[in-house]
Amino acid sequence: MHILITGGAGFIGSHVIRHFLNSWPDYTITNLDKLTYAGNLANLSDVESLPNYRFVKGDIADGRFLLDLFGKYRFDAVIHLAAESHVDRSIENPSEFVVSNVLGTVNLLVAARSIWEGSCEGKRFYHVSTDEVYGSLGSDGMFSESTPYDPHSPYSASKASSDHFVRAFHDTYGLPVIISNCSNNYGSHQFPEKLIPLFINNIRLRKPLPVYGKGLNVRDWLWVVDHGRAIDCIFHHGAEGETYNIGGHNEWANIDLIRLLCRIMDSKLGREAGTSEALITWVTDRAGHDLRYAIDASKLQRDLGWVPSVTFEEGLEQTVDWYLENQAWLDQVTSGQYQDYYEKMYAGR
Ligand code: NAD
Ligand code: TYD
Repeated sequence: MHILITGGAGFIGSHVIRHFLNSWPDYTITNLDKLTYAGNLANLSDVESLPNYRFVKGDIADGRFLLDLFGKYRFDAVIHLAAESHVDRSIENPSEFVVSNVLGTVNLLVAARSIWEGSCEGKRFYHVSTDEVYGSLGSDGMFSESTPYDPHSPYSASKASSDHFVRAFHDTYGLPVIISNCSNNYGSHQFPEKLIPLFINNIRLRKPLPVYGKGLNVRDWLWVVDHGRAIDCIFHHGAEGETYNIGGHNEWANIDLIRLLCRIMDSKLGREAGTSEALITWVTDRAGHDLRYAIDASKLQRDLGWVPSVTFEEGLEQTVDWYLENQAWLDQVTSGQYQDYYEKMYAGR
């Protein structure tokens, strides 16, 4: 089987590629990535020399290029992760999210259809999406696969739109699609613009920790390795045309998570208890900030038997260890344009 994985140089994509290469040595994996600020080939340095792995640099917004690529390699399956992924950036520059997330997804669907039409047997187009398409919850309830879409940020609106196109290609052309919507991921190799790696980086550098609003927004955190395991499980055993929610039943208010992280960091860095918490700085809330996400992953558990492999405490500790052992990675990805981004995003808050 030859699988095209898009966005494989990013956070989740690099874990998915590593997982598939280790678990399915008979498969050939082609990684297509534009290498935006979030894409980093160093994320794959441990597997890049394997003979069944290939990297192609390219933009999914370029439809002609995709038609040629699919014509050349005749992929059996696609696992699509490439996307602009950060909510704060989508608030600054929504159009980029339409180009990569909506147009890019449609181009991939068109390219897959161009080689599979008439012979979809054994083919699969797997679209990786987010729970943010469902909008925001109040203090109770959870998102199920039948929760109506209600996106609020340009990021979640673009992902919602891409999900609709994937379903439309199934219903209209019979493309063998499958979609999963996952909660917030954490783990190694995540770009330090998202909450957990940003705060780990700031704590190590003794920089302020910018908490949006009152810190009471709730996210449902899943270890990225468990997301990769879920994608493998759904890719192989999920039913065509279906949607699966992925989550770890692991809700945390931001401020509680941040305090836990501060305690772990103080202990790992040998700093006096309370040192990191003193860096907490309350800043202006994110515009349109969704209050709470929580995933009901019972369909995935019941139908396919997937459950997370680690507790949050175990996963978070491993994550902190990785960033502290790989401070050169943090220094490398936060050099250059990262400084401009940081100034722009946080200076006025
Ligand atoms: P990321 O930003 O770390 O990586 C995205 C990758 O896509 C990068 O390598 C980037 O270079 C590439 N890319 C972006 N635009 C491209 C384009 N036009 N053409 C080709 N490549 C392009 O993102 P991530 O956190 O790894 O997320 C991966 C996917 O998973 C996204 O589709 C995201 O919506 C989804 N998702 C993320 C989370 C999360 O918590 N991070 C949760 C659920 C779903
Ligand atoms: P983030 O990691 O950006 O993920 P998402 O917005 O996709 O859920 O943010 C997680 C939560 O942390 C979210 O409620 C916003 C909040 N947050 C802060 O309080 N400060 C920050 O500097 C960042 C990046 C996020």
